[in-house]
Amino acid sequence: STRALIDTLEADRHLDRNQWIAFFRGRTPEALEYLSTRAREVSRKQFGRDIYTRGLIEFTNYCRNDCYYCGIRCSNAKADRYRLTDQQIMDCCKQGYGLGFRTFVLQGGEDPQLTEDRIACLVTAIKDKYPDCAVTLSIGEWERSSYERFFRAGADRYLLRHETADPEHYRRLHPKGLSPEHRKQCLRELAEIGYQAGTGFMIGSPGQGPEQLAEDMLFIEQLAPQMIGIGPFVPHHDTPFAGERAGTVEETLYCIGALRLMLPQALIPATTALGTMAEDGRERGILAGANVVMPNLSPLGVREKYELYDNKICTGDEAAECRDCLELRMESIGYRLVVSRGDHPQAGKEE
Ligand code: 5AD
Ligand code: FES
Repeated sequence: STRALIDTLEADRHLDRNQWIAFFRGRTPEALEYLSTRAREVSRKQFGRDIYTRGLIEFTNYCRNDCYYCGIRCSNAKADRYRLTDQQIMDCCKQGYGLGFRTFVLQGGEDPQLTEDRIACLVTAIKDKYPDCAVTLSIGEWERSSYERFFRAGADRYLLRHETADPEHYRRLHPKGLSPEHRKQCLRELAEIGYQAGTGFMIGSPGQGPEQLAEDMLFIEQLAPQMIGIGPFVPHHDTPFAGERAGTVEETLYCIGALRLMLPQALIPATTALGTMAEDGRERGILAGANVVMPNLSPLGVREKYELYDNKICTGDEAAECRDCLELRMESIGYRLVVSRGDHPQAGKEE
């Protein structure tokens, strides 16, 4: 039964491929309820009722890639493109620091105009000014030498979702030129260099079924990343996937629970996409085993331009409003936002 699989997963932190497939096929409301309860208990043991925050700075929506699901793909001529200046980025950090953020996530498309130098200088500037903060980069695929340079400049963490671990499925989501092997290679390099590395994938993307999800779980088990970001696929109206079905909150919660049981100490956000699919999506994410929230610090004027998918929440709210909103939401379910870098419990303890 699915309940027995959940017990096995909790005890062994491992399922084999066939067990994973059965686990995903066996998703029922009762199974989700049971899994969430187990996963929530594991989170509580690791992190108590503390929720870590990261200030997300979406600093460019230019992108050279053409992922079929993404609203800022290069073929989307309707996307209103922008780049923040260094000064604007530093202002976001200043405001964020005042609001209690101790991690800044620099996220952007694969902007052809971004240089290794600029990123390295930005990271150094932020770390100089805020030595008690962590800097996370989320800027896609670069050469190993560039990842090394960013790390030397002071970057602490790197987010690069693998998107799907099934190569066939990867090719259904991305045009030629992006390769699933290269993606995985980047992730292994990031881990080797010493970053706290984050991967992840969308839930309910076109062509994803129990077999693909099983591959994702096996890949994540092997990579053992410090962070895992997952959220429902949400169609964007100006992409080839405009007419596809969105992923559901329930599927997403089920995966969050599974990830928490497999990697008890992982940093797992309740994502904006989850909050987009349901008003209380992020709260439910926390109650299913997530322990991080990532409110937006981008300037109000550019918020709605970083439109990866339709109906994205928080595009009209000031950073302070989002912080207060999330604080209330977390308190409403008995959790609290903490002023902390929120490192992985084992960060810096290995090697
Ligand atoms: N729906 C949900 N998530 C999306 N992402 C990109 N486009 C979408 C979409 N339409 C996710 C990808 C990417 C992250 C930054 O946003 O997984 O890695
Ligand atoms: Fe942005 Fe609630 S978190 S308005």
